[in-house]
Amino acid sequence: MTLTIENLRIAAAGAVLVRDVSLTLEPYRTVTILGETGSGKTLVAEAAMGTVAPELAVSGRIADGGEISDAADQGARRGAWGRRIAMLPQEPWVSLDPTMRSLAQVAEGHRFVRGLGPGPARRQARADLASLNLAAGDDRYPHQLSGGMAQRVAFASARAGGAPITLADEPTKGLDATMRDAVVALLRKAVEEGGSLLCITHDIAVAKALGGEIIVMLKGEIVERGDADTVLVAPSHPYTRRLVAAAPENWPTATATATASVPGDVVLEGTELAVSRNGRRLFSDLDLAVRAGEWIGVTGPSGCGKTTLGNVLLGLMPPASGRVRRRAGVASTRFQKLYQDPVATFSRHVSLRTALAETTARHRVSFDDVMTLLERLRVPVALLDRRPDQVSGGELQRVSLARVLVAKPIFLFADEPTSRLDPITQQETMDVMREVTRERGCGTLLVTHDRTMAERITERRITLGSDLA
Ligand SMILES: Nc1ncnc2c1ncn2[C@@H]1O[C@H](COP(=O)(O)OP(=O)(O)OP(=O)(O)O)[C@@H](O)[C@H]1O
Ligand SMILES: [Mg+2]
Repeated sequence: MTLTIENLRIAAAGAVLVRDVSLTLEPYRTVTILGETGSGKTLVAEAAMGTVAPELAVSGRIADGGEISDAADQGARRGAWGRRIAMLPQEPWVSLDPTMRSLAQVAEGHRFVRGLGPGPARRQARADLASLNLAAGDDRYPHQLSGGMAQRVAFASARAGGAPITLADEPTKGLDATMRDAVVALLRKAVEEGGSLLCITHDIAVAKALGGEIIVMLKGEIVERGDADTVLVAPSHPYTRRLVAAAPENWPTATATATASVPGDVVLEGTELAVSRNGRRLFSDLDLAVRAGEWIGVTGPSGCGKTTLGNVLLGLMPPASGRVRRRAGVASTRFQKLYQDPVATFSRHVSLRTALAETTARHRVSFDDVMTLLERLRVPVALLDRRPDQVSGGELQRVSLARVLVAKPIFLFADEPTSRLDPITQQETMDVMREVTRERGCGTLLVTHDRTMAERITERRITLGSDLA
């Protein structure tokens, strides 16, 4: 089944967000969209699903399996859901129904989309899970699955309806290399079996591994397209050249850029820390002193306790043993955490301006401070009047960064703070974060799955989970 998008245009009240996008996706083929954060990638996928926000004007034509529809008629796309097109959710563990065991989640698609009886649906679901090495997870609820397992269950349930076309919006963001490769292998397998894949990613390595056609978007338009081998190896558009060159392995190293290499006073100290979760020891004997202005990288495989370490250091949960000392006489609000998932940290019902005004009022700082930060982070101020679901993933991530920095933290635990940014914006954003934290003497723990980035941007690193099997 071939998916065709012709002359897609999406506009908001005062701006054209997507202009003249056409693409064809054939069986056994992959199309990967790369491009600047906010350039319209997600909107293209949403148009294919018919889920573009109602306040936006859509025009163009969409066809799959011979059925051509006017892109403006989004209701017409509904019949394709699960049957012809499956959307691989961005946050698998959130999208799974917490009250259903894995087998039942997957069996649902076979029953209600494909129309199998209850027995055959369960048998098929069992076979799907076994083929993804998940037989052991059949009867588990989502909270009992690791991130990697949840990703595979979500994949199986998205595809259970038998849809030959898969849309995946940043399916590997924030995953460590092992899990990322596992997700890429799942996607490639679906294509090798005759499916078609439209994948949006900021990870050049993922784009390379998927192969097929690459489309590069900038400010709502396609600026370059072609075979992965050509576009990624010998890009012709200046933007693509910059994008490919901005991979963290090409960044200057922290020691070379450090302007103030003299470490400041200790802002937070952990001594002989041990941490357990669900009766399992995650790490022990960790000694750590964070000094003003310094950046320390925290790496380690998925599930090794990186987020838990942050919670212990911030006093949100006690360590199994050991001590944490935060600098005395400093308000607790100046020990801050930047959450991995920016969507979860904003209320869905209020504008970003209102959310930021609440923050500046709480911390008794002027609203101009947050405006200055947004400007430095290159966030267009026009989007402050929108709700969180009306801006792109990378825009929201930078707004959440500005919100945390405006609290003038002296310690910041930053969990994958640039996971939703294209490589160019990621590098710029990291530079701004480093400048601001250094100016203000804020000690930063940077959690990242990207070892190369950690090596480039932090003065030293700790690796957790080396004693895990
Ligand atoms: N409902 C809306 N109203 C107004 N503008 C919107 C709305 N939804 C999205 N936009 C804007 O459209 C542009 C494209 O958004 P989109 O989510 O497609 O970007 P993207 O390329 O997926 O970015 P990212 O890489 O950050 O996810 C952004 O500038 C965004 O702010
Ligand atoms: Mg997006």
